Amino acid sequence: MVVAVIVGTRPQNIKLYSLVKMLERGNVDFYIVHTGQHYDYGLDRMFFEELGLPEPRVYLGVGSGTHGYQVATIVLRLEKYFIGEKPSLVIVPGDTNSALGGALASVKLGIPVAHVEAGLRSRLPFMAEEVNRVLIDHMSDILFAPTIYAYENLLREGVDVSKVFLTGDVMVDNIVMLRNEIERVQNEFSDLEYAYVTIHRAENTDNPARLKGIFEGLRVIAESFDLKIVFPMHPRTHIRARKYGLEKILSHKNIHVLEPVSYLKSLRLQKDSKIVITDSGGVQKEAFVFKKPTITLRETTEWVETVEYGWNILTNPVKKDIVKAVQEAMEAKPINVDPYELYGGGKASLRILRIIKEYIS
Ligand code: UD1
Ligand code: UDP
Repeated sequence: MVVAVIVGTRPQNIKLYSLVKMLERGNVDFYIVHTGQHYDYGLDRMFFEELGLPEPRVYLGVGSGTHGYQVATIVLRLEKYFIGEKPSLVIVPGDTNSALGGALASVKLGIPVAHVEAGLRSRLPFMAEEVNRVLIDHMSDILFAPTIYAYENLLREGVDVSKVFLTGDVMVDNIVMLRNEIERVQNEFSDLEYAYVTIHRAENTDNPARLKGIFEGLRVIAESFDLKIVFPMHPRTHIRARKYGLEKILSHKNIHVLEPVSYLKSLRLQKDSKIVITDSGGVQKEAFVFKKPTITLRETTEWVETVEYGWNILTNPVKKDIVKAVQEAMEAKPINVDPYELYGGGKASLRILRIIKEYIS
């Protein structure tokens, strides 16, 4: 009985940490498949080294390209591998093209799929990740919902209740497991009051007007508020900013644009920040766990609880709205909920392990 775990992008490589720990703890025979969707050191290898993750057994080497190219190439290459080495179960975390390609290749060969982070919905039907989530959920045999909202979404969509498990969130397990390591990370910005910023979503980066609005908002914050900006920039954002000639907007003494940082550094930078400004799914949730007021530059979020508890402000990517949201965030009242408990109390991977062991036995 062998389990294959499919990763290949930054957030999936990160989610691998608690998943690997739990599979090792349960003596489950497993191996890792890496699609190669992310390949830069700072989006990929850095996490394997920092977190001591096992080497992937299979590299599909897909790289960048259109969504059709990425998904189709993963299906072709993975199918070829799985025909020779058919696993008993495939685990796919998240909502990227790597997750969809991995799930599709598996179900077409009759291999059962377990989806980690099932049931999240942004209610934007054409958003790339929403398309992937819906498709993966409806082809999976086991669905691990990170929140009660995600669990209810699946039942509402008619997914058989016997397949759905409310487990909590594996990224919160990571934070619990790595709390000492996070404390040991050096933060050269710890003496400053700063906003931690990450932006990479296609909807923001591929639209010059939106990206300009975001950069202008950050510039006003750096000039007018007593707040620095610490911004590790995703390569997608970097490439687009250069193409649209927007880099100079961020050229200011209070704005620190960095290369993508390691996972532990990202958590430490969030933990020490005053507020967080992001469009990342994972960062919204981490900021909530660290009780940092968050401005999310999106219309909706799949992490609805962060908004419901008044800690996450969904904001248009335009200068004046960003500035208004920052004012609001700086005055946010303390959060009145235990975010760890909301996400399963750090025990999601343990619950997933029990269910997987029962399934494969
Ligand atoms: C992908 C996921 C997104 C996830 C994000 C995490 C999909 C549809 N999108 O978005 O859900 O939030 O990863 O970070 O799966 N690039 C590099 N180096 C790399 C990888 C990419 O420079 O190692 C550049 C390339 O120009 C590429 C662009 O980034 O075309 C976009 O990469 P891609 O993997 O298509 O999507 P992401 O924006 O990274
Ligand atoms: N992250 C990181 N380095 C960075 C920026 C983010 O390690 O420079 C981490 C972040 O803390 C979170 C994860 O990357 O754990 C989120 O991934 P990303 O934003 O790429 O994707 P999403 O969650 O939006 O799919």
